[in-house]
Amino acid sequence: MEDTLSIIKPDGVRKKIVGKILKRFEDNGFEIINPRYINLSKEEASEFYNIHKGKPFFDDLIIFMTSGPCLPFIIRGENAILRVRELMGSTDPDEAAPETIRADFADSIDSNVIHGSDSEQSAKREIRFFFG
Ligand code: CMP
Repeated sequence: MEDTLSIIKPDGVRKKIVGKILKRFEDNGFEIINPRYINLSKEEASEFYNIHKGKPFFDDLIIFMTSGPCLPFIIRGENAILRVRELMGSTDPDEAAPETIRADFADSIDSNVIHGSDSEQSAKREIRFFFG
């Protein structure tokens, strides 16, 4: 069993696809733990994405992630970190495999509806960030 951190981003909430996204994870055998809507402050979003500080897309990323409520949650299951990333699809929806969440719902690389931890170390840090 493994835990990973996912966030339905503000565009996913605005599009009213929260239920559809959570269902995909549940249909694939995963458990959804502690989903709750929050509004990230600029400071919190900057801290969460500190690995991207200095990159050209950083400022837009912070504006986007603070543009409305988002839904962080923990996903638990076998090989969750890798499997969740497979179910999400590539960061850029144009490159995402068919039937992945981003291929089906995301508009662009900047507006890609969902986040998932990319490694065991990130999962630990990101779960701690939101859930202590
Ligand atoms: P995510 O991996 O969830 O977190 C960082 C986000 O930055 C990423 O999703 C994209 O939405 C956004 N982003 C915009 N441009 C890029 C890029 N060139 N490379 C990686 N992420 C990008």
